[in-house]
Amino acid sequence: MGLVLADDLLGRGLQRIQREIDAAFDFFLPVPEDSRAPLIEAMRHAAIGGGKRVRPLMLVTVAEMYGASRQSALRAGCAIEAIHCYSLIHDDLPCMDDDELRHGKPTVHLAFDEATAVLAGDSLHALAFELLASHETSTDPFIRSEMIGALAIASGHNGMAGGQMMDMAADTEKLDLRTVTKLQQLKTGALLGAAVELGAILGRVPEEGRGHLRAYARDVGLAFQIADDLLDAEGDEALAGKALRKDEAQGKATFVSLMGVDKAREQAHALSEQAIGHLGQHGKEADLLRSLARFVVERDC
Ligand code: IPE
Ligand code: IPE
Ligand code: MG
Ligand code: MG
Ligand code: MG
Repeated sequence: MGLVLADDLLGRGLQRIQREIDAAFDFFLPVPEDSRAPLIEAMRHAAIGGGKRVRPLMLVTVAEMYGASRQSALRAGCAIEAIHCYSLIHDDLPCMDDDELRHGKPTVHLAFDEATAVLAGDSLHALAFELLASHETSTDPFIRSEMIGALAIASGHNGMAGGQMMDMAADTEKLDLRTVTKLQQLKTGALLGAAVELGAILGRVPEEGRGHLRAYARDVGLAFQIADDLLDAEGDEALAGKALRKDEAQGKATFVSLMGVDKAREQAHALSEQAIGHLGQHGKEADLLRSLARFVVERDC
């Protein structure tokens, strides 16, 4: 996969978090010497190596802005990335997008088999909540339970999985811009929103102090999925590490199909600038969030 980096700060931040999350999954997922081995190998195949780790970086950055420890934030970052990796395993299955390539490697159901891929997704889903429930992530039970609740909502029928259901209808039904916006906010925006939310929870930001962070996440989330759809329409498969030109072939309703490439790109950039605008009350400590908002629309993978 290729990464076009908007700046040094972001480049260093992404490289560091990628190293840390890879090492953490390596630690959490030792391969046992019994017949579960292929299941754990499949989880490792999906979770180690290749992902940009945008969600953990967002989570850790927000948590550190408010004084939480990087160690705790990294464990929560792994939880959110476990949900993300599970969502990609299932998204690639023949019954969903039927894809063969992810992160430049064969998808899990091809590297292993379909049943193992389903179970690897299930197990990563469970791992996420195991990590959040652990004393090592936070010694405060209120923080642990608030994080568990927020990630559960963002993952299920009112979040990512709900958005995936709407997405499955998007190639048969004629969807309007409002519906596509809702679909994207659920399938992609919800987990990015949870990244910011979990960071704020770990940083003990009171409910009334989170509005600007949520607004930032909402705009970045939408911009992120528009960029994914633009990538599908005109990106380079070798850099993206996944099959492209699928949305149009499948007749999927996306921002690109509804507005065209130029307008969609304009919209993504406007959302990215709007996201940065929500961070006005912060100084340099939020620079990484600003760079991330630019990166999500300029990325080539
Ligand atoms: C891809 O997400 C799927 C969407 C939700 C658009 P990412 O682009 O964050 O995936 P990786 O993990 O970095 O490849
Ligand atoms: C997937 O969206 C969103 C998920 C919740 C996994 P896409 O189907 O557009 O993601 P890619 O293009 O396969 O990465
Ligand atoms: Mg999909
Ligand atoms: Mg897909
Ligand atoms: Mg896509």
